[in-house]
Amino acid sequence: MKIPVFQLINLGIILVVLIFLVRYAWDLFFGKGYSPVEWENAKKSGKISGKLLGLQKSYADKVRFYNWWFQIERLKFENVSGTFAELGVYKGESAAVLHHMDPGRRFHLFDTFTGFPAGDLAGETGEAATYTPNRFSDTHISDVLRKISGNDNILLHPGYFPATSDPLRNETFALVNLDTDLYKPTKAGLEFFYPRLSPGGVIFIHDYNYKWEGIKRAVDEFVKTIPESLVLVPDMDGTCMIMKNK
Ligand SMILES: C[S@@+](CC[C@H](N)C(=O)[O-])C[C@H]1O[C@@H](n2cnc3c(N)ncnc32)[C@H](O)[C@@H]1O
Repeated sequence: MKIPVFQLINLGIILVVLIFLVRYAWDLFFGKGYSPVEWENAKKSGKISGKLLGLQKSYADKVRFYNWWFQIERLKFENVSGTFAELGVYKGESAAVLHHMDPGRRFHLFDTFTGFPAGDLAGETGEAATYTPNRFSDTHISDVLRKISGNDNILLHPGYFPATSDPLRNETFALVNLDTDLYKPTKAGLEFFYPRLSPGGVIFIHDYNYKWEGIKRAVDEFVKTIPESLVLVPDMDGTCMIMKNK
């Protein structure tokens, strides 16, 4: 019996699709996935809250998630003092994770909560040049608080950064997450937070990659003025970190 060529091609395609489906189902139900041994040990010892376990399961960028966790565990171990801060909160996805990794820390959240300030968008190149001011405006403080579902340590600072930073000029920070997509607030964030960072404290800057030209420029300009080097994180969007010398 002779099988026509197009039927053979069809059979081949069906076979390849089946192999992918079986592999996907196997990974989903039996695969261990990417999980650092220290995290697994902390989980076994009951040190990870149910809330954080849920966030870990749903958080898409596992490398980013575990990098935060390792840094926060280090801050606890080394008794690095200071509060946490995030500039660029949007709906509170990253803020929820950071809060539940150390719910005992006061956590300052900075965002307009109404989208990008038009003045900050002017002059952007690369990916950010495609943005309009109403991008990220579909959020509200009450939704953010609901999403984080945290305790009284969450402190919101709605409005334009750096104007909203003034009441915190005497604050000390242990951890700062900068996630604004743009040159101006990234530069302003580094200039405000770095001098107020405790020795051993850490600043994360998200999207340090070739697509976000403003962020790369802000970080590269700033890092030339400080003694520390950048630490690059191989997460999906290229976080970089500055750890303040002791
Ligand atoms: C990429 S989103 C943040 C995403 C968030 N970290 C998450 O995990 O979903 C960027 C946010 O930065 C905020 N932003 C940008 N420039 C700002 C400025 N100068 N002052 C306050 N917020 C700003 C925007 O309003 C937007 O919500």
